[in-house]
Amino acid sequence: MRIITAIKEMQSYVKHNYRRGRKIALVPTMGYFHDGHVMLIREARKLCDRLVVSIFVNPLQFGRGEDFATYPRDMKRDLDLAKEEGTNVVFAPTADEFYPPGYSTFVDEEKISKKLCGGFRPGHFKGVTTVVAKLFNIIRPHTAVFGQKDAQQVAIIKKMVRELSYPIHIIVIQTIREKNGLACSSRNEYLTVHERKDAALLYASLQKAQDMVKAGVRDAGKIAESIRAHLASSPVIKPEYVELVNPNTLERVSQIGERTLIALAAHVGMTRLIDNIFVEP
Ligand code: PAJ
Repeated sequence: MRIITAIKEMQSYVKHNYRRGRKIALVPTMGYFHDGHVMLIREARKLCDRLVVSIFVNPLQFGRGEDFATYPRDMKRDLDLAKEEGTNVVFAPTADEFYPPGYSTFVDEEKISKKLCGGFRPGHFKGVTTVVAKLFNIIRPHTAVFGQKDAQQVAIIKKMVRELSYPIHIIVIQTIREKNGLACSSRNEYLTVHERKDAALLYASLQKAQDMVKAGVRDAGKIAESIRAHLASSPVIKPEYVELVNPNTLERVSQIGERTLIALAAHVGMTRLIDNIFVEP
C-alpha cells in the first residue's frame, strides 16, 4: 500500500492507472476508522482495480468553536486497517498542501445544504463540497463510496455530481451501527459510558417512528413528536432538530406519502450526533 501526501504525486499515480485502463474507486474519510469506514472500503474494493482512501481532517468543514483541534486521529491504526482491506493508496495530504496559504476557491451547493444540519452548522457543507470536489478533481475516480449515516451529505454530493457533470458513480452504503444500535461515528469516542448508553435512544426513537408508520400513522408532525418525547426520556440528550423530509430535496413533508427520510441531530452531553432512517407507507 502506498501512502501519498503530495497532490502532484497523487495525480501522476492516477494518470499512470488511467493509461492502463484501470478503474479507480475513492473512499473519502476524515480517518479514525470505525466499522462504518471499513464497510465503505470493503464495498469500494469490489468495484475497482485501484482503491484510493483519502484521510484528511478537513479544516474547512468545521465551524468556529467546533471540534477541529480535538477531532480524534490515529493515522497508524487507520493505515493498518486500510492495508488489511486491500487499499492501494492512502491519500493523506497536509492542510497546507491541500489549501495553500491564500486559498480562496470554493464549491457551494446553495439550496439543500441550507436545510437540516446546514441551519445549525453554517459553512459546513461548503467545506464538504469543496474538499470532495477537489478530491474528485485530483483522483478522478470512476466510483466514490459514501455512507447513508450522513444522509444530507449524500444528497448534496449526488446533486453536486449531477450539476457539475462529474462522470462519477456514487455508491451509498447503509448505516453501520454498534451493538446497541448507536450509529458508528468517530465522535462516539467523546461519549462517557453513561452517554453512550443513552445515545442508543437516537436509533430506538427512529425505530419506534418506523413502527408507527408500519402501523398506519402518516402524520409527520405526530411522528416527530413521538421521537422528541422518546428522546426527552434522557436528561443528557438535547435534540437540535427532528425532521421528516423528501430524501432528495430535503423539503419537509407533512404526510408520509412516499419514501421519507427521518433525520435528527442531537447533543448527547457535549457531543453532537446525527442519525436517520427511511420510512415508506
Ligand atoms: P467521515 O465522518 O470520516 O466519514 C467518511 C465516510 O464514512 C462518509 O461517507 C460517511 O457517511 C461514512 N460513514 C460514517 N459513519 C458511518 C456509519 N456508521 N455507517 C456507514 N457509513 C458511515 O463524512 C466525512 O468523513 C467527511 O465529510 C468527508 C466526506 C470525508 C469530507 O471531508
